[in-house]
Amino acid sequence: MERIEFIKTCCQAGLGLCLTTLLGESCSSSIYFAQATVETDKISVRKSEFQYLKKEEVRERTHIFIKTASAEFPICLYKSADLYTACLMRCTHQGCEVELQGNRYVCPCHGSEFNTKGDVLNGPADKSLRTFKTTQDETFIFIWLA
Ligand code: FES
Repeated sequence: MERIEFIKTCCQAGLGLCLTTLLGESCSSSIYFAQATVETDKISVRKSEFQYLKKEEVRERTHIFIKTASAEFPICLYKSADLYTACLMRCTHQGCEVELQGNRYVCPCHGSEFNTKGDVLNGPADKSLRTFKTTQDETFIFIWLA
């Protein structure tokens, strides 16, 4: 291998490593589908699912996503202080999947916006997102489906 090829190869490998690291870090803190146990009436999620490692430091996510085999839309479990809010990510206007952008859900179809409790901030949707009661113990958060 000639010197110029060696330098090109090293630069490409370094760039690839940087991109992988950046994407990995942003994914670990923004879109994370948690491991969960789904039963008929509830979903159990370990509180530790909100934690991730960044530069050997334990960090906390503000939210995690849960996808079940039977549901068409994911549930977003949002943490604020020690309170958890669970919202089905289905827009109440015409059923598109909403996206979490910062501390609000935004519908990409017609622009409705909801706060993290599911309340409508901007239409055309006029009904809140479907929410689920949550409870917790020392280890788990429970999302009650009924
Ligand atoms: S489907 Fe969400 S705003 Fe229309």
